[in-house]
Amino acid sequence: MAMEDHIERILWTDEEISNRVSELASQISNDFKQFSSALVIIGVATGAFLFLADIVRKITLPITVDFIRVGSYGSGTVSNASPIISSDIKIDIKGKHVIVVEDIVDTGNTLSCLMSHLESKGACSVSVCTFLDKPARRKVHFELVGEGKFYRGFECPDYFVVGYGMDFAELYRNLPYVGVLKPEYTSDGCVATIS
Ligand code: PRP
Repeated sequence: MAMEDHIERILWTDEEISNRVSELASQISNDFKQFSSALVIIGVATGAFLFLADIVRKITLPITVDFIRVGSYGSGTVSNASPIISSDIKIDIKGKHVIVVEDIVDTGNTLSCLMSHLESKGACSVSVCTFLDKPARRKVHFELVGEGKFYRGFECPDYFVVGYGMDFAELYRNLPYVGVLKPEYTSDGCVATIS
């Protein structure tokens, strides 16, 4: 069975995603154009890898790029309340304007952890650019750092979504669109297989 056959319905197509990413990139390019130092873009691995790759190519300002790895969901569909930074950034962000690029904000636990972590490293401001935002599931409030701004691609209904970087059991990240899995592939404990 092809990977597409595991998808019940598509929420955002490749084209809709591309159009929205262009809008976000031009908003960011405009909002940060007055700053002389390079903007630092930090992607949250793994889920943000496609969104990050797409948006940085549309931002017209000088930027530096780094990654941070934070564990949250594990292999299931329920977010873990205590995220752990398992791989830190390598570049110095002291006095820099930083944008954290996420695929999705769910409970807010990951961002809450990241905001205090990046603030402690001396960032001048920390903004968030998330591809999807699920405000209905927010449990933890996070404060942006300094004059940080919040950008989001789309508000996501309360479904477990896959594609465009987002996974279930590490599968489906390479779908070029965002969709909802058929129920038989989403229950915890079910190991999705592609044959
Ligand atoms: C996902 C997503 C966010 C986080 C959001 O990461 O990429 O980082 O969960 O959830 P929260 O707001 O409830 O903290 P995940 O741990 O699934 O890792 P992944 O990026 O490797 O898929």
